[in-house]
Amino acid sequence: MSIDISNYNREADLMQDEIHLLKKSLVELKNNIDNHQSIPNDDSASALNKLVVENTKLKHRLAVLNRAVAELSAKKTPVDNTRMQSINDILTDIFSTAISRAFPDLTDPPIVIALSGSNPKFGDYQCNSAMPLSNIYKQSGKKVAPRDLGQKIIDNVESHEIIEKLELAGPGFINVYLNKQFGLKNLSTIFVHGVNPPQLPRKLNVLVDFSSPNIAKEMHVGHLRSTIIGDSICRLLEFLGHDVLRINHVGDWGTQFGMLIAHLHDKYPDFHEKSPPIGDLQAFYKESKQRFDEDEDFKKRAYASVVKLQSFYPIYKKAWELICDVSRKEFQRIYDRLDIKLIERGESFYQTRMEAIVKDLQAGGYLEEDEGRKVMWGSQGGQNIPLTVVKSDGGFTYDTSDLAALKQRVDEEKCDWIIYVTDAGQATHFNTLFGCARKAGLLTEKIRVDHVGFGVVLGEDKKKFKTRSGDTVRLLDLLDEGLKRALDKLKEKEREKVLTPEELKQAQEAIAYGCIKYADLSHNRNHEYVFSFDKMLEDKGNTAVYLLYAYTRIRSIARNANFTPEKIKELAKTCQISLDHEKEWKLGKVLSRFPDVLLKITKDLCLHHICEYMYEISTTFTEFYDSCYCIERDSSGDVVKVNHGRILLAEATAMILEKCFSIIGMKPVSRM
Ligand code: ARG
Repeated sequence: MSIDISNYNREADLMQDEIHLLKKSLVELKNNIDNHQSIPNDDSASALNKLVVENTKLKHRLAVLNRAVAELSAKKTPVDNTRMQSINDILTDIFSTAISRAFPDLTDPPIVIALSGSNPKFGDYQCNSAMPLSNIYKQSGKKVAPRDLGQKIIDNVESHEIIEKLELAGPGFINVYLNKQFGLKNLSTIFVHGVNPPQLPRKLNVLVDFSSPNIAKEMHVGHLRSTIIGDSICRLLEFLGHDVLRINHVGDWGTQFGMLIAHLHDKYPDFHEKSPPIGDLQAFYKESKQRFDEDEDFKKRAYASVVKLQSFYPIYKKAWELICDVSRKEFQRIYDRLDIKLIERGESFYQTRMEAIVKDLQAGGYLEEDEGRKVMWGSQGGQNIPLTVVKSDGGFTYDTSDLAALKQRVDEEKCDWIIYVTDAGQATHFNTLFGCARKAGLLTEKIRVDHVGFGVVLGEDKKKFKTRSGDTVRLLDLLDEGLKRALDKLKEKEREKVLTPEELKQAQEAIAYGCIKYADLSHNRNHEYVFSFDKMLEDKGNTAVYLLYAYTRIRSIARNANFTPEKIKELAKTCQISLDHEKEWKLGKVLSRFPDVLLKITKDLCLHHICEYMYEISTTFTEFYDSCYCIERDSSGDVVKVNHGRILLAEATAMILEKCFSIIGMKPVSRM
């Protein structure tokens, strides 16, 4: 029987909305209470009293609603057998039901589920809610030992196929042991249906604004980081089934175009008939900048050109397009090599929208005069700096285009989630932007916005990343060096003697681009990051090369036993993954965490979690392979026995690893 869950979904959505509103009024009430000034003095006592009563009522309603939502969501998700399930979600459901049953008096009880760590003595997962619960009771004057609360939780857990046993430990931890039969069922889905994403409540419209270099300027390593991180976020969200718009918000509309156009005019007067041979846009930029700084008359013409361009004067627009084209081709070479897809929608796209939003903000009274500029504050006071919405010469800025872009993304693209990937130095800009947008009502609480910042790239000398001669590193040169170093590495191992030229080239590219991407993604993005080919190309530790080799080794197991992918699919119909041996079960449990790793990244957008996970898969696989024979051979090397259940486990490992590779934008090879 199939259950129509759309009604539940709708009901749950409505409730979520209502809860949201209630939570907001609670916050407002609390603010009012905290902020006595807003209550007229004479009535203050009775007003306060009224608020407290109101508050208690609301809290009670919130508790009722929360419980109803919990029940609904438990009902609304009939298990989908075509995908692996999130263990974290299941355990969270189980324990939140148990906890609200055990403590019906609490409004929003903490549900704390964690992995148990490496010591098998503590089970596989833990529910650590008893300690914070005890604190909550303590605050309201009731003293209860966390251990007693832990026991009460256990008593209220209903039996579930995922749980083998529960154990109360230490001051009140609840150790959870997973059930093997469940693990087996969960993992086996991938042989029938492939590696699918976990089930999500709904599909979102997501816009990821990444890469975003500036026209006529060098695309630098900061943009490379944004490109790699942004692409991986897109790949993850696409895999999860969301609608993802990959936007390249290129800087194509600044005042620098005035001088570029004026210079183009002088240097190639026939540019509108014959495409000008600008090979080196950087040099062209430098020339025009020099004239701009030295020649007053040129400067005036440059300013005049910007104004004409921004009102779309055809010949100026043509000149601008020519310049953009040169840059665009350069950028594209990098995107092609790294296999990155982007839709270009630069600052210029928002010109008319900027004009409109300035009018709106002006009319709404949001703009303040400041020495001829018009600024907008995100929030008042502190060390905040405002957005500059209109410059004193009437021109628009980076801030104006971001305001207009945000509005376009919300109103026209109907985004549920907008993600900006830039260096951490722009965090203040984005926080102020979000603050202003909320203030002006462009952004509501239902829309999620994230600034995904990252640290600066340093050279091996821990100083700003530069070439030996002190110039900025050209990205194309960097990729070339990666290719060269990767080939050296392969030759060092004499792989050119075993691989076909085609295989060698594939391995070279997999290593070169893979190591650059992996080194970036495997570090916590918030930290600064040292760019070192030597480190990236190491074949030990958590590196791309190690993982690429691990993957080929795992893939070769089935191949050596003459199992084609089709044959494995057949095999999976009659034979089960083997999970009996301690090391098999350990690997099985790591693989079962795949959905949870992905879901975790959707929360903090930190991709090093998936890299750490891939490394953990590889090392756990090695442990398994060292103690469990998949294929047994006799002394002459002939295969005498194949352990089919283990072949399946190895294959499941390869399949999940492969999916991880694709999420981080790496292309593993089957031989290298
Ligand atoms: N072009 C900018 C830079 O190079 C990055 C743009 C990021 N996106 C945005 N919507 N502000 O720093």
